[in-house]
Amino acid sequence: MSKSADLAQIIRAEAGDAPVELGLILGSGLGHLAGAVEGVAIPYAKLPGFPHAGVSGHNPNLVIGTLEGRRVAVFGGRAHYYESGRPDAMRLPLEVLKELGAGAVIATNAAGSLRADMPTGSVMLLTDHINFSGLNPLIGEPSDARFVPMTEAYDPAMRAGLAAAAEAVKVELHRGVYAWYSGPSFETPAEIRAIRNMGADAVGMSTVPEVILARFLGLRAAAISTITNMAAGLSAEQISHEHTKAMAPLGAAKLEKLLRAYLKSL
Ligand code: HPA
Repeated sequence: MSKSADLAQIIRAEAGDAPVELGLILGSGLGHLAGAVEGVAIPYAKLPGFPHAGVSGHNPNLVIGTLEGRRVAVFGGRAHYYESGRPDAMRLPLEVLKELGAGAVIATNAAGSLRADMPTGSVMLLTDHINFSGLNPLIGEPSDARFVPMTEAYDPAMRAGLAAAAEAVKVELHRGVYAWYSGPSFETPAEIRAIRNMGADAVGMSTVPEVILARFLGLRAAAISTITNMAAGLSAEQISHEHTKAMAPLGAAKLEKLLRAYLKSL
């Protein structure tokens, strides 16, 4: 059996056999959302090969259960490229998600804003991304499946559903392009000016490799940023991981409302 099939078996033994519909990956400072799910929390440490998720502000548990009537798998923490130098650090968790029956995944993240009309506390639905890192989680993948089309990487139907849900619960949902920067250092003001000219609306250190992997695996994908700061050089605000964690709850409340409404609408 493959590693992902083995892990799925461990997970089913704890959480039951019912197939999962949707995966949810929680970003920095958003880990508490895992607590909203009625179900079973399995520590990553019990799942061999799962990421260590050693970044503070994350909650390294896989929670399988029900949220607003849908069976979900919530990844309370993610692995970032900058922790290991491996752009495919989230491949196994996504393979396991697929093995559990999911057809779709929603990634969330904390991000810096490049737009004055999208201040700290805003929530942004990704319409597209720019892989500013130049890295790719599929480098080394031998099969022809590696040539993944990315024209509509962010699933149009999921985007429409999330937009309708946001409207229904009166959460202002910005739309924009997310640029992936490797981290772990933050960007320079010159880099922010460069990616703004390239068409980015927000910047962060995650999500893009996961969406590439999700599409490779045939999972539909959507992603939402919570804005924790204005990007480097765009305000007098101090940029730091502490600040990210402190500001994440502002957008997290909106995000939870939006995700609940979306799940209810399915
Ligand atoms: N840059 C990169 N990643 C981030 C930022 C940022 O400004 N804010 C939160 N995550």
